[in-house]
Amino acid sequence: MKGLILSGGKGTRLYPLTYTRAKQLIPVANKPVLVRVIETIREAGVTDIGIIIGQTGEEIKAAIGDGSQFNVKVTYIPQDEPRGLAHAVKTAEPFLRDEPFVMFLGDNVIQGGIAALIRDFSTHLDRWNSQIVLTPVDNPSAFGVAKLNPDGSIAQLIEKPKDPPSNLALVGIYMFDHHIFEAVNSITPSWRNEYEITDAIQWLITNGYTVVPHIHRGWWIDTGKRIDMLEANANVLDEIVPTVAPDVVIENSQIDRRVTLERGVRIVNSVVQGPAIIGEDTVIENSYVGPYTSIFHHVHISNCEVERSIILENSSICDLDVRLYGSLIGRNATVQKKDDKPKALTLNIGDHSNVWIR
Ligand code: G1P
Repeated sequence: MKGLILSGGKGTRLYPLTYTRAKQLIPVANKPVLVRVIETIREAGVTDIGIIIGQTGEEIKAAIGDGSQFNVKVTYIPQDEPRGLAHAVKTAEPFLRDEPFVMFLGDNVIQGGIAALIRDFSTHLDRWNSQIVLTPVDNPSAFGVAKLNPDGSIAQLIEKPKDPPSNLALVGIYMFDHHIFEAVNSITPSWRNEYEITDAIQWLITNGYTVVPHIHRGWWIDTGKRIDMLEANANVLDEIVPTVAPDVVIENSQIDRRVTLERGVRIVNSVVQGPAIIGEDTVIENSYVGPYTSIFHHVHISNCEVERSIILENSSICDLDVRLYGSLIGRNATVQKKDDKPKALTLNIGDHSNVWIR
């Protein structure tokens, strides 16, 4: 089997952060979502991976390289325009050729990995042409939705239905054999002018191919928006086994045991409650860091309180007398208070921003 990761797209729902960065490279618990996706595919024994790239391709190439640092082989496949998931499959045909493959959206995070699913698909290749993953959601109209027959087989798949026939959304993980190429070449663009993978899978069903649904019961997050990013971060932090680098310096501070401290961290006169992760060479002084917070490398936190937030590299948060909560702070940003008027803060701040709270 081969792997195909889709990392084109502009990330408009995560603006301003994604003006300057590929959304798949934003870290969740200090590891880019795209790296988590690569690791999930590798755990399933799939190491020949194509990555579809668009406008942000150079940045993705710089971060992932040839894949050897993750023990996989990466081939980059440029997509001229983001014209839909089915169009991406068409673009990848010269890479995939006749091999069955697993396709994974580069901004999705799923609990428990997909190794068992891939194994299941690869042992049924004589009878199955595709396997899709479904999960119950509260807002099915935002996704591709499946209507199932009483025997559990798929009756119909509809992309972003106004009146959803069920709450079962298509998770961004799909397995196909080579029949998918006939399907993607047979469909027409949708109302949003995209070649929808949902329509291509429906084409397989209509034309008598076997598409098997798997219902995922753990969490799954499409990290397209700030709230989703923070939720994915919280879920992953809940599951990682905390580690503490040998060279961290802790003075007069209280650190919960569910906190990961990377190398060079310095914490002085502070309280850090887990689950949380503090990145390399980050300094925290006279501060409180609350649960579900990921602070990346080379950050400076001083005289403030931060909770359930993601803070990217080289940023500085200082002298706030109000807790920073539910925030996503870009790289090289500063947040600092100017006088003592208290305010509630929820921020979504791009790279290189300066925020002065008056
Ligand atoms: C895409 C698919 C949709 C699927 C979703 C999963 O939606 O078209 O069927 O449910 O990914 O994240 P999009 O992210 O393009 O809105």
